Amino acid sequence: MELYIDDANIEAIKRLIDLYPIDGVTTNPSILAKARKDPKELLSEIRRIIGEDRILFVQALPLDAKGMIEDAKKIVESFGSNTIVKIPSIPEGFKAIKELKKEGIRTCGTVVYTPLQAYLAAKAGASYVAPYVNRIDNMGYDGVAVVKKIQNILENNGFDCKILAASFKNSNQVLELCEYGVGAATCSADVIDSFVNNAAIDKAVDDFVKDFEKLTGKHSMKEVL
Ligand code: G3P
Repeated sequence: MELYIDDANIEAIKRLIDLYPIDGVTTNPSILAKARKDPKELLSEIRRIIGEDRILFVQALPLDAKGMIEDAKKIVESFGSNTIVKIPSIPEGFKAIKELKKEGIRTCGTVVYTPLQAYLAAKAGASYVAPYVNRIDNMGYDGVAVVKKIQNILENNGFDCKILAASFKNSNQVLELCEYGVGAATCSADVIDSFVNNAAIDKAVDDFVKDFEKLTGKHSMKEVL
């Protein structure tokens, strides 16, 4: 499962890229608004931090296909070919995804709440589809179950499209989908940190350090070898 940071906070991105095996950064207009910076400068800064090899997801704003296509071209021109354009999975969005596929621009069908929305985005030619796990949970449905259904649809129809599961509020939602083998998950910094936030883990590593100190008075193997 690929792992993305669903955040535009520069300090958080720098820290997470440094520590964890991260495949890139995903953004949407609300995430950019939260950062309260000029979007062009902010996205350029994120591209500099993550380098050309990691993927950056940027969302097109217009709600008509023509506008989405124009936004998509400008986004890829501005942030490089390893940028995937998020397109809302609505009728005009499917039209834009079809056209962008022909032009070789990779897209992610986003704002996915239903399995058949994902089916349409994948069939139109999206490289990723982004179902919103926690928002689906909050509507009284089972977000993880919806994503599993989408995974079955993609596999059983032979679509060349991965899931980019989004909108997580806890690591257990991510765990179930990781076990199921979905293509990718994008999480906020606090959810990624929560994968290893555990007092038992902290105690175990502290005990190793203390035991070695008691034995040797040293803090590393290099001091005793
Ligand atoms: O990009 C989609 C995802 O970020 C939505 O997450 O936390 O706003 O439900 P959230």
